Amino acid sequence: PVPGDVEQISKAWDAVKNNEVEILYFIFKSYPDIQARFPKFAGKDLDSIKGSADFAIHATRIVSFITQLYSFGKYGASHYAAGFTIVNEFASNHKNRGIPKDQLSEFCTALTKYVSTHAPWDDNIAAAWSRGMKSFLEVSFANY
Ligand code: HEM
Repeated sequence: PVPGDVEQISKAWDAVKNNEVEILYFIFKSYPDIQARFPKFAGKDLDSIKGSADFAIHATRIVSFITQLYSFGKYGASHYAAGFTIVNEFASNHKNRGIPKDQLSEFCTALTKYVSTHAPWDDNIAAAWSRGMKSFLEVSFANY
């Protein structure tokens, strides 16, 4: 990451990081093929599952994973290894579930769209955000 990216990303992420359910809803709405991979959600009407406990639990897992990853960036170089560890673990879990790379990219596309339309956004934030997504996918795909 470029120095300063964490500050830029925080302007956007801090504004949406408590919108867990809305974020997962937006991702499933944008890419129903992602929803279809979840045994608990496959084939169900998105609006009817949105208010369920299962939905809230999974939304919180994903969003707190991102917040955790971003916190490691914020703590600086001493925590980068921890960031690599959790991304590698994420990638191997999802690879083992048979989730294709394209879906991980779709996820990042939808997440970026959500954040850019629900949080402060400008060219500097957009550039920092896009470097963050790119590194996340590069590390994820390294052994995919
Ligand atoms: C768990 C699918 C992307 C974070 C899961 C599970 C599935 C899944 C089926 C297991 C759910 C369960 O326990 O009932 C997918 C699909 C994705 C995707 C289809 C397509 C893009 C992501 C991304 C993140 C993420 C990008 C993080 C930014 C997690 C976490 C868990 C999880 C933290 C729980 C821990 C684990 O069991 O690995 N995912 N996921 N997922 N996912 Fe994803």
